[in-house]
Amino acid sequence: MASYKMSIIWVSSAVLLIGWVITQDQATWTTTQTIHSCNWTCMLFTLQWPGSFCLNIDNKNICRIPHNIHNWTIHGLWPLNDHYCCSCWPIFHSHLQELEPDLCQLWPSFIKTRSNFTFWKDEWLKHGTCAGCVESMSSPFLYFRTVLKLRALFDIDNVLASAGIKPSCNVSYKYDELHGALVPLLGDNFVLQCVTGDEEREAWVQLKIHFSKNITLGCQAEDELKSSRVMTPTNGHPCPKNTTIFYFPINYEHPKQPCT
Ligand SMILES: *[C@@H]1O[C@H](CO)[C@@H](O)[C@H](O)[C@H]1NC(C)=O
Ligand SMILES: *[C@@H]1O[C@H](CO)[C@@H](O)[C@H](O)[C@H]1NC(C)=O
Ligand SMILES: *[C@@H]1O[C@H](CO)[C@@H](O)[C@H](O)[C@H]1NC(C)=O
Ligand SMILES: *[C@@H]1O[C@H](CO)[C@@H](O)[C@H](O)[C@H]1NC(C)=O
Ligand SMILES: *[C@@H]1O[C@H](CO)[C@@H](O)[C@H](O)[C@H]1NC(C)=O
Ligand SMILES: *[C@@H]1O[C@H](CO)[C@@H](O)[C@H](O)[C@H]1NC(C)=O
Repeated sequence: MASYKMSIIWVSSAVLLIGWVITQDQATWTTTQTIHSCNWTCMLFTLQWPGSFCLNIDNKNICRIPHNIHNWTIHGLWPLNDHYCCSCWPIFHSHLQELEPDLCQLWPSFIKTRSNFTFWKDEWLKHGTCAGCVESMSSPFLYFRTVLKLRALFDIDNVLASAGIKPSCNVSYKYDELHGALVPLLGDNFVLQCVTGDEEREAWVQLKIHFSKNITLGCQAEDELKSSRVMTPTNGHPCPKNTTIFYFPINYEHPKQPCT
């Protein structure tokens, strides 16, 4: 019974892969619930700042920032307006073996009860299986390798450091200072996300960068971006322009209260 099921899965993924090779972007495939037709046009490349990641995690004992993490880390690469495109496409730890040292450094889990691999697996199933209709992301290995390449190309840490934007507990920044520091690298193709910390302080926690389906910076589909903002509740809210914003340092001992 089990092996019969496996062969069905295998056959349908083989058909699926052939489908992609032949029809490229227009591939259509079916899961038990929906037809996914690779109809998205933009993606969000989302980076997170470990210094404020734990601020809005309710359970204060569950959050942990490993001591080897000092820089912005990856949250994910997400095609807009589609997710969980195929439960037929499993990912195994062995697929990522070659990439694992980089993934651990750049795409770690900060939740104690969720292993690094579980985080990667969840991101693959929710988002990677949708991105997988594009050739350069058409397997777990290729998807994760592409995301690591993007992280290397968009070196946020260096750009911020050279603009004099440093993590601090006692200095906060105007929206325009943070935004302006990134424009030379990213143009206007990004959104800053904040969370509200202790004493109502706004803390910068995420950076969402817009990419086209062909993995170039920017998204032409403004309407798609707008509807995704309404549709997908995420960590935090757009950083406010009417108050200053903290860029908290990473506090490994008290990640939920970096500045108390
Ligand atoms: C793409 O197709 C899926 C599945 O039919 C649908 O849920 C989604 O809204 C579509 N997205 C766009 C941008 O049309
Ligand atoms: C997960 O990644 C973190 C951060 O790099 C690392 O410290 C930790 O050892 C990794 N966990 C495992 C089980 O590899
Ligand atoms: C972390 O960021 C610093 C710049 O602030 C940079 O020099 C260093 O190479 C980065 N490390 C990694 C692993 O990206
Ligand atoms: C501001 O905080 C930094 C550490 O985040 C510290 O090194 C510096 O001395 C502080 N400056 C003042 C004026 O308190
Ligand atoms: C990528 O797609 C965008 C938007 O569709 C387009 O403007 C751009 O020319 C494409 N770039 C490449 C290298 O194909
Ligand atoms: C900033 O604006 C938001 C809504 O636009 C409002 O809720 C908030 O109270 C304002 N904050 C300050 C400090 O004026």
